[in-house]
Amino acid sequence: MMLEKYGHGGDLLTAQQSFGLPGDQFIDFSSNMNPFGPPAAVERLVAEYAKELIRYPDPGVRKLRAKLASVYRIPEESILVGNGAAECIDLAVRVLRPQMTGLARPCFSEYEEAIEKTGGRVYDLPLDPENGFELRKQDLLNAVDCCDTLFLGHPNNPTGRLLSKETLAILSDCGRNVILDEAFVDFVPAEEEVSLIARAPEAESLIVIRSMTKFYAVPGIRLGFAVAHPRIVEAMSRLQIPWSVNSLAQRIGEAVLDDLEYAAGTKAWLQDERAWLSSELTRLGMTVYSSDTNFVLFSIPDRFGQNVKQLQASMGAQGILIRDASLFPGLNEKYCRIAVRLREDNEALIAGLNNALNGHSRNR
Ligand SMILES: Cc1ncc(COP(=O)(O)O)c(C=O)c1O
Repeated sequence: MMLEKYGHGGDLLTAQQSFGLPGDQFIDFSSNMNPFGPPAAVERLVAEYAKELIRYPDPGVRKLRAKLASVYRIPEESILVGNGAAECIDLAVRVLRPQMTGLARPCFSEYEEAIEKTGGRVYDLPLDPENGFELRKQDLLNAVDCCDTLFLGHPNNPTGRLLSKETLAILSDCGRNVILDEAFVDFVPAEEEVSLIARAPEAESLIVIRSMTKFYAVPGIRLGFAVAHPRIVEAMSRLQIPWSVNSLAQRIGEAVLDDLEYAAGTKAWLQDERAWLSSELTRLGMTVYSSDTNFVLFSIPDRFGQNVKQLQASMGAQGILIRDASLFPGLNEKYCRIAVRLREDNEALIAGLNNALNGHSRNR
């Protein structure tokens, strides 16, 4: 059975059906959550939530928007909160109705799905391993010539790479609509420097999308936001289903933004842990690509005689879920993506991979 049959990682029900373990017993490297779990305030908010269930959420998401405005120093009228970044992706495409959208592939599948739903076409900007999956300047310039919109991940999923300064400069000046998915930028220590969130309120042609589910480890509540010129935000909100963002998500969003220690701790931890995990994967013989965020893409060299589907199956049987990255257009059956988790889990991953690839536990 294909673990990603609904198009994403983190599908524990399919894992349970495929590998026979209860869903919560897998170590999940297939979706890219902060492994520290939600900030402390979340448990209390969930416990208190029962009394609020009988009321409608604030349809204008006013308190959370005010909070986001102060944290990111942007005007409230430039913020639209959505039911996950996923809803913001859908709304961004529906509001711009692009005819031809440039996608740097491999990239997150929802970009193309949103484009297809509105009848738009996709222009491919191929990313390839020879230059570490960086967008090539000439490809970008060609895309600017023939697209009305560019939709890019910053950092990109599944490659984990941020866009370069040069690319960002071209995008800022190109006179095309740009949708920038910054769902994973909170994990980057230089977030403030690299994010375009502060520019979006004034630019007429830039929509920046952020997720709160990955960094704060609350994917179950669905929470993300888009930042753009107030006119674009207003048009997006007209397309949005009323009360799309439930009240628990709103409360949690307000609270987690106050936990500065959690945010700083996560960023600092990730740098060392990703370096350790990448070097262990390299020691196992994998070809590892450098990442700017909380997941790592690697490929399995031919000499192991295994493709990622076989590897996923033998890891699943050991209770460990990895992402089959061959399902991203632009990657082949050798590619695999894993989240960076806490050390104990990462050690289990390395031991499991060693079992699966070499048929034995490695002596250290
Ligand atoms: C690149 C990227 N953008 C957006 C999303 C959607 O995030 P959310 O959970 O906020 O809807 C995902 C989820 O996997 C993602 O990988």
